[in-house]
Amino acid sequence: MPLPRFQTAIAAGLAGLILAACGQSAAPPAEAPAAAPPAAMAASFEPQAEDFRCIRDMHPVRGFFVDNLLGDLEATLAVAQSETGGVYPPGSVVQLVPGEVMVKREAGFSAETQDWEFFELDVSPAGSVIRVRGTNDAVNQFGGNCLECHAKAEPQWDLICEQTHGCDPIPLTAVMVKAIQNTDPRCPPVDNLPPEQIEALELLAFLREVSAENEAP
Ligand code: HEC
Repeated sequence: MPLPRFQTAIAAGLAGLILAACGQSAAPPAEAPAAAPPAAMAASFEPQAEDFRCIRDMHPVRGFFVDNLLGDLEATLAVAQSETGGVYPPGSVVQLVPGEVMVKREAGFSAETQDWEFFELDVSPAGSVIRVRGTNDAVNQFGGNCLECHAKAEPQWDLICEQTHGCDPIPLTAVMVKAIQNTDPRCPPVDNLPPEQIEALELLAFLREVSAENEAP
C-alpha cells in the first residue's frame, strides 16, 4: 500500500489503538443462569467502561483476546478456538488492541451486526473511557468503520476477521499488534520488551507524527 495512505491510516487510528480497551468480565452470574441455553440469556445487559480492563488479563486465542461478561467464558472460548467457526454467546468480549472492542450483546440487540456492539475506548492507567459505542458508529484507529469491514468475514466466523476470513486488512504487523498489547497503559508495564517490539512502536509513533503533520490544517 502506498506509504502516504498508510501514514494517514496510522494517524487516524493509532491513538485509539494504543489506547485500546480490554473487556474483563464483571461476571454477574445472577443475570446469566448457567443452565440457560444462549438464546434464553436474552436478559439485556449493558457493558460499562469498568468492564474493559487490561487486555492481557483476558484470555489469549491466537493473536487476540476474549472474555465473557456473563460468566460463560467456556462457550466463548469454544467458538474462538473452533476450526469451523460458530456463533459467539452473549457476553463475549473480543479484542485485538486495547482501544477497540466487540461485545456480543443479548439476542435481538441488532440483526445488522449479528448482535455485536462495537466500541472505541480511550485507555489510560486510570482505566477505560467509552468514546463511541453502537452498531454502526465506531471507527478504528485508521478511520475505517468497524461493521463495514468486519461484515465481510465469511458467515461461519460471526464477524471475526483474523487474517484469512475475508475482511480487508489493517495496516498492522503481528509484531506491532503484540507491542501494542504489551503496552496497554491499563496493565502493569512489561519489562524487557523485545527489541523488535520497541522498533515497531517507534515506527508507529513516527508514522503517527508524520501523518499528524500532513493532516494539520
Ligand atoms: C479495514 C477493516 C477493519 C476495520 C475498519 C476494523 N477492523 Fe477489526 N480487524 C480487521 C482485521 C483484518 C483483523 C484481524 C487482524 C489480525 O489478526 O492481524 C481485525 C481484528 C479485530 C478484532 C480481533 C478479532 C478478529 O476479528 O480478528 C477485534 C475485536 C476487532 N478487530 C474489532 C474492531 C473494532 C471494534 C473496529 C472499529 C472500532 C474494527 N475492528 C475496525 C479489520 C478491520
